[in-house]
Amino acid sequence: MKKKVKALRGELFLPGDKSISHRGVLLSSLAKGKSRIRNLLSAEDVTMSRRLVEMIGAEISDHGEEITVLGKGASGLGEPSDVLYAGNSGTTMRIGSGILAAIDGLSIITGDRYLRKRPMERITTPLSKMGATVLGRDNGRYPPLVIRGGNLQSIRYEMPVASAQVKSAILVAAAAQGVEAEVKEPLPTRDHTEKMLQSMGADVSRSGDWIKISPHGELRPLDVDVPADFSAAAFFIVAALVTPRSEIVARNVLVNPLRSGMLRVLARMGARIELTNERVVSGEEIADIVVRSSELKATDVDGSEVPLLIDEVPVVAVAAAFASGVTEIRGAGELRFKESDRIASVTSQLSSLGVVAEELPDGLRVKGRGDAYRGGKVSSFGDHRIAMALEIFALGAGIGITLDDRDCVATSFPGFYDKLRSLST
Ligand code: S3P
Repeated sequence: MKKKVKALRGELFLPGDKSISHRGVLLSSLAKGKSRIRNLLSAEDVTMSRRLVEMIGAEISDHGEEITVLGKGASGLGEPSDVLYAGNSGTTMRIGSGILAAIDGLSIITGDRYLRKRPMERITTPLSKMGATVLGRDNGRYPPLVIRGGNLQSIRYEMPVASAQVKSAILVAAAAQGVEAEVKEPLPTRDHTEKMLQSMGADVSRSGDWIKISPHGELRPLDVDVPADFSAAAFFIVAALVTPRSEIVARNVLVNPLRSGMLRVLARMGARIELTNERVVSGEEIADIVVRSSELKATDVDGSEVPLLIDEVPVVAVAAAFASGVTEIRGAGELRFKESDRIASVTSQLSSLGVVAEELPDGLRVKGRGDAYRGGKVSSFGDHRIAMALEIFALGAGIGITLDDRDCVATSFPGFYDKLRSLST
């Protein structure tokens, strides 16, 4: 966006939540019968999960607003006839591997050049402990992965990292095989998998930090309305906050507390944000989010909050660039293993645009309200959230940037630029 935007105003209907869309597609394949999913995210990442379940025997039909997934039950899934491709999607590869581990057959799954550099030991270790043979490059650390599945046994596992993808891979493997699994998370992470499995009739419970799934009968098909993605809304929320005279309302947005930690951080920063029309749809909390431009002040974010805003850190860093004072985010080392090393990506690119931003081993520090923000060439490192965060920074700063790869926004949000234009006055 090169044109100087005066204000962002209007009503915003955002695409379906990415995490819930992936899970809707992946978990439907385990049910016997026809699942219905409305407002599924139409983006590259979710296409990867769709292809994966089709390759193992589920049938998907598109009916405009709704898709149906005809599952054959976990025992009806079969070995894929070719190599599976997860593209840029860590969620497809990690949660998908949970399903593949329960299939009596051989699966090979790979991804794009970014995904092939992301750590997979976190799933190959527990899935191997459950009895699958899981091989990957560099001793199981990196994709491609080769999985010889079936015949899994129960597991009690303390996760070394707080990761919803790892938790989900284990729960899904257990659900598909009909065995017990107990997983401990070091910090609470998004619980969409637990909620969805429960709605399918699985016996999933939580006690303290432990989540347990017990053997159950056949899983029932799903019927899900996917709410608007909070992680997509986050870019517009920050854009409206930092652009004078703005007021937007984002409708039907997922506000599950394990996803919307950014709202609490922004509240500390003095953001004028209101939730209205709060309700529960398909087991998930949703609301309309009203955002007005605000005078922001710096805050600190510590590790206990990080899983609740893990995907929003790049755009929180952008908000910090417009706040008075120095914002510090710590305990966020996991960001180094996302679609790019997001600590390095966001600090290096904001710095190149004149922000005083510093990389820390486990986070970052941003000094706000600089007076020398300048346009220029920047890199997204192929990372959709870095691209969108930099665009929001440029908009707020009223500068022009040239991104090396704008197309990567299609990973999660193909209509991002159009939406931004539609609100700009
Ligand atoms: C996701 C979990 C998070 C998040 C990712 C989506 C999910 O990853 O960063 O974008 O849908 O479970 P981790 O579980 O690896 O932290």
